Amino acid sequence: MAKNRKVLVLHGPNLNLLGKREPEIYGRLTLEQINRKIEALAKELGVEVEIRQSNSEGELVQWVQESPKRFGALVINAAAYTHTSVALRDALAAAGIPAVEVHISNIYKREEFRRRSLIAEAAAGQITGFGFNSYLLGLRAAVDLVR
Ligand code: DQA
Repeated sequence: MAKNRKVLVLHGPNLNLLGKREPEIYGRLTLEQINRKIEALAKELGVEVEIRQSNSEGELVQWVQESPKRFGALVINAAAYTHTSVALRDALAAAGIPAVEVHISNIYKREEFRRRSLIAEAAAGQITGFGFNSYLLGLRAAVDLVR
């Protein structure tokens, strides 16, 4: 499949715990269940997705660096690194392919430290607060950006 029909979906730290982790904030779906929904939408939209999760900032940076070789766009929930990682922001800026920043919870309705995203400036846009649906909206946005 052409590169611009391939989207890399990245989940950051602690998202492997979805389903068990603060379900009142992040919902009851597991990461696996969310990934199945992302894959189903990708099929409907006629694009290919590759989905990865890491708790390691360095690994996420590496994946973002390598992404332009094989993908046309990124959907990224950088989780806690959203608020701390200059490295991830720089990697996204360097990658030069469109990235859609997504969050399950509305980061602007929560603690003060979550209200700032360091990666936002390197992203095409941000979708925050729609539960697992943020990923699906993010995938639709990413696909539109590369069409
Ligand atoms: C999150 C919000 C972040 O503040 C938090 O650290 C996460 C998940 C979200 O999807 O709502 O781990 O990115």
